[in-house]
Amino acid sequence: MTSSDMNYLTVALPKGKLFEPAAAMLAKLGYSAEGLREDSRKLVISNEEKKIRFIITKTADLPTYVEYGAADIGIIGKDVLLEENKNVYELLDLKFGLCRMVVAVPQALVQDKLADYAHMRVATKYPNIAQRFFHEAGIQLEIIKLNGSIELAPMVGLAEIIVDLVETGRTLKENKLVEVATLHQATARFIANRVSFKMKFDRINTMTEELRGLLSAGVAQ
Ligand code: PRP
Repeated sequence: MTSSDMNYLTVALPKGKLFEPAAAMLAKLGYSAEGLREDSRKLVISNEEKKIRFIITKTADLPTYVEYGAADIGIIGKDVLLEENKNVYELLDLKFGLCRMVVAVPQALVQDKLADYAHMRVATKYPNIAQRFFHEAGIQLEIIKLNGSIELAPMVGLAEIIVDLVETGRTLKENKLVEVATLHQATARFIANRVSFKMKFDRINTMTEELRGLLSAGVAQ
């Protein structure tokens, strides 16, 4: 099974916070499949009648599946696209999953200006984004890549600073971390493989326009 099967459209959905709203938005347009759940043990779920199949991937891996054409299209956060920097088409901002990428530090370490954090250690799930940000600011520090629970790092002395996503702000607050800079905002994006976009143009374009219609009608969520 590959997405090069012209009869099928393969849609990649990420595990995690975006899964539910992404699946719900597609379901509103009739793009769904029986048994499509985030915790599904089955990782490929097909709807034979609609000639559509869903694959469920780890968040950070989703752009790779789309870049290589293992999935024709997908829904993923702008943060992941910026971090992974894969060669895919970004077709639409789906507006949900709004969050921001921030620099945060424990209250006691708050400095007057960003340059005062030079030579400290930064823990993050987003090493490329963090590296670019500090490089552009002319600040040299050490980036430590972690895979989750980033807020733990400053508590146990692994790093002084974190670069992480903030949605409600609850996690920062609970871990007594203070936001000292915002890198950018992020929302969910509808993306496509470059070859699929040409080969399956009618279906992908129809879907893009249907999603755009939902957004402008204000009934996306
Ligand atoms: C994300 C992010 C923060 C938290 C922010 O983590 O890395 O930890 O959500 O959300 P809040 O501002 O609403 O509290 P996620 O739940 O994806 O877990 P992980 O980082 O441990 O993988």
